[in-house]
Amino acid sequence: MEISATLPLLVLLTFLQNTGLVIKALPFSMISSTKYRLPDQQPYRTSYHFQPPQNWMNDPNGPMYYKGVYHLFYQYNPYAATFGDIMVWAHSVSYDLINWIHLNNAIEPSEPYDINSCWSGSATILPDEKPVILYTGIAENKYQVQNLAMPKNLSDPFLREWIKHSQNPVITPPSGAEVDNFRDPSTAWKGSDGKWRVVIGAQKGDEGKAIVYKSEDFFNWKLDADPFYASENTGVVECPDFFPVSINGTNGVDTSVENPSVRHVMKVGYLRRQHDYYFLGKYLSDKEIFVADNNFTGTILDLRYDYGKFYASKSFFDYPKKRRILWGWVNESDTEQDDIEKGWAGIQAIPRQVWLDNKSGKQLMQWPIEEVEKLRGKKISIHGEKLLSGSIIEVSGITASQADVEIVFEVPELENVESLDAKRVDPQLLCSEESASKSGKLGPFGLSALASEDQREQTAVFFRIYKSSNKYLGLMCSDQSRSSLRKDLDKTTYGSFFEFDPNLKRISLRSLIDHSIIESFGEGGRVCITSRVYPLLAIGKEAHLYVFNNGTQSVQISNLNAWCMKEAEVGYQKNVRYVECS
Ligand code: FRU
Repeated sequence: MEISATLPLLVLLTFLQNTGLVIKALPFSMISSTKYRLPDQQPYRTSYHFQPPQNWMNDPNGPMYYKGVYHLFYQYNPYAATFGDIMVWAHSVSYDLINWIHLNNAIEPSEPYDINSCWSGSATILPDEKPVILYTGIAENKYQVQNLAMPKNLSDPFLREWIKHSQNPVITPPSGAEVDNFRDPSTAWKGSDGKWRVVIGAQKGDEGKAIVYKSEDFFNWKLDADPFYASENTGVVECPDFFPVSINGTNGVDTSVENPSVRHVMKVGYLRRQHDYYFLGKYLSDKEIFVADNNFTGTILDLRYDYGKFYASKSFFDYPKKRRILWGWVNESDTEQDDIEKGWAGIQAIPRQVWLDNKSGKQLMQWPIEEVEKLRGKKISIHGEKLLSGSIIEVSGITASQADVEIVFEVPELENVESLDAKRVDPQLLCSEESASKSGKLGPFGLSALASEDQREQTAVFFRIYKSSNKYLGLMCSDQSRSSLRKDLDKTTYGSFFEFDPNLKRISLRSLIDHSIIESFGEGGRVCITSRVYPLLAIGKEAHLYVFNNGTQSVQISNLNAWCMKEAEVGYQKNVRYVECS
């Protein structure tokens, strides 16, 4: 185990900080090193997911690519592992979206218009390659206002320092929004009239809405009369995101593109549900309307990016690689007291490429960015192995607590599968009732991840296939009910349906496993489920990985590849776990 040479200094600082003597006097960047914890006490810290060295993190803010560097800002509490009264914009940079350098905070409360916190917002690159940030300030009177910040020095490749604009706040709450529910400006886009538009989350009464402001110069903003997207009975909209997707292929397009080759996506987060919902539709900038194909129903028909834990997400266009990338915050499922003891809370999902499912045109697809594959080390493969009813096989030889697994299952003829009236069934409930251990006809089959050797602990990510009217439906579940011997955790089981094409006779699953997170992608990114788990036995080298089939019908592993994942540099300490991956 490596112990930092600065440990005596850290001990002194920790002492002073605990006495309350230095907490306000130290720069934030110094404070963040004072509570350094050694990694062997940290079985749940991730090895390749983005995390700050300590304390609380929530929303991704202002992700962008600028002159060879990716920037990720994020909501951060510099003082504690819980959400705080004073939130700042922390800042990290990367050349590949996987390995990160943590910098000093970019935006901190300092002025009457943001003295009570700098909340979420977005970056936009203006003509002449000038990045700007619009963020929500919690003002002296607790009003939520929108502020502008610009880099101090454009020739600094990391854009370390940000200056707040003299005209701040540039937008104050309009009469149609509650003063304390008006926040999270999106990346701006340019309409056909050349004016910038930005969408902001709001609430009035019980109506949640995303409202649009227009501007010619980015400083003077005018409210558009009609809400861009609104729903009754939802409460506040958080972190709205609005972007075009190409109707052909997987390439992304710039946020301002508006032509017949694209459709548009409106994403809203509902605080009450802690879920991100998206709507596909048509955008007409001359009328300033977005016509969604389907409106929010509050039922299982609503589309979500992820059916597990994934919130306050934000996308950006990565123009060198012509792709749209989605970042999302993944919260903890343990208790606040655990977070205080761990010294941290919140991770970011692996960035995902997002595109329109061109075949149906009815949903988005997501896939972990290709750069994560650079971390793949030792590989184990299984081909053509039959999984009889009740069978389980271990994928051994890789570090199961830090892995990337891809499986293709071959399924038999679908004559005898169970029937289901999908319109009446909540897939999440179905997943918990028909858990991984309950035998069905075709399914459950899938992965048992972060499992203890005796399998008393395991998180099962699995499929079942049903017949529903004249179609076949897949059900994808992530069952956390046995994820830990601990009882005081949120072990909600997650699930979603997807249309299953019987002609394919196959079904695929990819899971990114990283100590306390499992991000799973069914059918090439058609269904995504992220879960957080905290096993007591299945930690580090004691974690196992299995493939199982508890259905009465056999299925076949047509192809399985599992890789040990190397550690990414996320500013913690490299190779702390000495995972042997090569
Ligand atoms: C979403 C959110 C945003 C807000 C930020 C504060 O998680 O509540 O609406 O700007 O977090 O940290």
